[in-house]
Amino acid sequence: MLLHIFPYFLFFNLCLSSGCVGILKSELDEESDVQTAVTVNVSLTLEEIQFVSATNMEYEVTLLLHQRWLDPRLDNNLCTQQKAVNGQIWRPKITLVKGCLKICNNVDDTQFWRGFGSKGNVLLSEKVTVRSSCTRDFRRYPFDIQICELKFGSYVFPVDEIELNWDRNPIKILSRTDLDTFELTNVTTYSEIDVRPSGNFRILAVQFFVKRYFTNYVMSIIISGNLLVTLSYASFWINRERINFRLTMCLSNIAFLIYLHVHSCSNTLINALDLFFVTCLIFLIFSLFGNCLVSYLLSMIHVVDKGNRNHQRSIILVHRWIKILYPVIYLSSFLLYSYSVIY
Ligand SMILES: *[C@@H]1O[C@H](CO)[C@@H](O)[C@H](O)[C@H]1NC(C)=O
Ligand SMILES: *[C@@H]1O[C@H](CO)[C@@H](O)[C@H](O)[C@H]1NC(C)=O
Repeated sequence: MLLHIFPYFLFFNLCLSSGCVGILKSELDEESDVQTAVTVNVSLTLEEIQFVSATNMEYEVTLLLHQRWLDPRLDNNLCTQQKAVNGQIWRPKITLVKGCLKICNNVDDTQFWRGFGSKGNVLLSEKVTVRSSCTRDFRRYPFDIQICELKFGSYVFPVDEIELNWDRNPIKILSRTDLDTFELTNVTTYSEIDVRPSGNFRILAVQFFVKRYFTNYVMSIIISGNLLVTLSYASFWINRERINFRLTMCLSNIAFLIYLHVHSCSNTLINALDLFFVTCLIFLIFSLFGNCLVSYLLSMIHVVDKGNRNHQRSIILVHRWIKILYPVIYLSSFLLYSYSVIY
């Protein structure tokens, strides 16, 4: 429907200026029985991308939105250039379907229009600043990858009037790719059809994949946690009689682990880092109880048995098994953890 109307709008606009009415009239007559959709090729130049808030995963991106289409009524002559300057050419009215447009005051500087060639090739570039939010899937935190998506489309022209296409090279990146605590790793595009009561609309989507920098978490938390578990294990190698020293060591390790957790708190749901803390805590508590058990058995020997050979042998056996099993189980669970986090 609208495609039927818009040539007349244009025609009406052009009638206002004398001189070029004749040319356009003949072209309109030629076109009147052709009713194909206008194909608009879209590409983006990413000028700047940054996080506004890393906790809410809100980001702001400044980009140039290039729209190319063929409008046989507009060739590169003085008349159409005048119309373009006055903002009177028809445009596909592409807007953001996902993401929120931030209006700048310098609107006049943000549009570039050029008609070129004799076939009516049109290029319209608009500079837009968009604020949107990324996914908030923190299950693998701090090893998470989030997807920040923008969607472009039209609320005015359905697919049988305008078909939107991604250009051959849809995205050009000029900005830095390190964003605060994230790194921009990959940009992909796709297109889909949005079915609304008013018709089917073509939607173009672009996805920015951002990956959190996790090195500092590994340095400060994963390494410290492993060190604490190792220290607790070392307590089994200290002289069996020095039980006070062993218990103090285990308790202070637990306290330090809790301190680490409080200071790395991500105030999100259960995530991969919490899983690591829980694993460490289980092993620290186990070493505490293991030490208690050994000291209890020792005291039994001294008090009750006065050095019964069998009892002493069973303590040595328990001790030896703890010494072997503890690192084996810990190492395998840590490897399992690393594997599940990385893949
Ligand atoms: C749009 O892109 C297609 C292929 O990607 C190309 O054949 C066509 O000429 C382009 N149209 C314009 C107006 O640039
Ligand atoms: C970008 O991510 C998509 C989806 O995960 C993937 O299919 C594609 O291969 C990636 N491209 C690059 C260059 O990493």
